[in-house]
Amino acid sequence: APGARAGDGGGPPGIVAHRGASAYAPENTLAAVDKAAQLGIRWVENDVQRTRDGALVVMHDESLERTTDAEEVYPGRVPWKVKDFTAAEIARLDAGSWFGPAYAGVRVPTLEQYLRRVEHNHQRLLLEIKSPELYPGIEQQILKVLADEGWLDRGHVADELIVQSFSADSVRAVHDLAPAIRTGLLGTPPLADLPAYSGFTDQINPSHGTISAAYVAAVHAFTGAHGRAMEVFTWTVDDAATARQAAGYGVDGVISNRPDLVEDAVLGD
Ligand code: G3P
Ligand code: CA
Repeated sequence: APGARAGDGGGPPGIVAHRGASAYAPENTLAAVDKAAQLGIRWVENDVQRTRDGALVVMHDESLERTTDAEEVYPGRVPWKVKDFTAAEIARLDAGSWFGPAYAGVRVPTLEQYLRRVEHNHQRLLLEIKSPELYPGIEQQILKVLADEGWLDRGHVADELIVQSFSADSVRAVHDLAPAIRTGLLGTPPLADLPAYSGFTDQINPSHGTISAAYVAAVHAFTGAHGRAMEVFTWTVDDAATARQAAGYGVDGVISNRPDLVEDAVLGD
């Protein structure tokens, strides 16, 4: 199926819907997951953080302000940090109206709700641990939810799940706690650091403006944590020319807010 090639090496890159198909539906919501599914996109990317009472929710910013109505519902609780609100408080928020009236009433999903929708849609998940320095122990907690939801069986870890973070410490923690899971390190580390990183990660996932064909080839020359060539998933690519350039560099995955457009660009239409 289109978009199913991410992570399998060779061929055109896999396509990943960034925060879901977030150009067309409010980011990091179940609506954005469903939009990606409607477009035939198998992989979705999300961002996971923790509430004040220890629940895991899907949200990019550390503050609720940009993508919810927290400012109106909870006036005065500036700066509306995710970590300062309970799960019940966040569940009351509207995470869709800011994007457009058609999405009024869309909620901030918990990680459990998100995993169930991805599974229901037969999709795959690139899970980002966002700002883990704010949430000590979040890696273990995410792994427990993944286990409880049935995402750590052989089929899921082989084909349907990658966990990534900008924090090398967080990626290392995931690998140490659950070595079967494929992992990615976000950013563009110097190649000299890759011998260390390759012990606990399978991917290096850089911003598209920071890479070259030489960089991608150099990453591929390393063997990752699961004994295969390390991969590169690049972000956030939202136009055809950049998508073709990234594909030309040999990347394994392209992460996009407009995954349909990128798929057409790299696979041909
Ligand atoms: O998946 C890569 C990309 O999401 C990293 O940046 O800020 O969108 O989480 P950001
Ligand atoms: Ca992200």
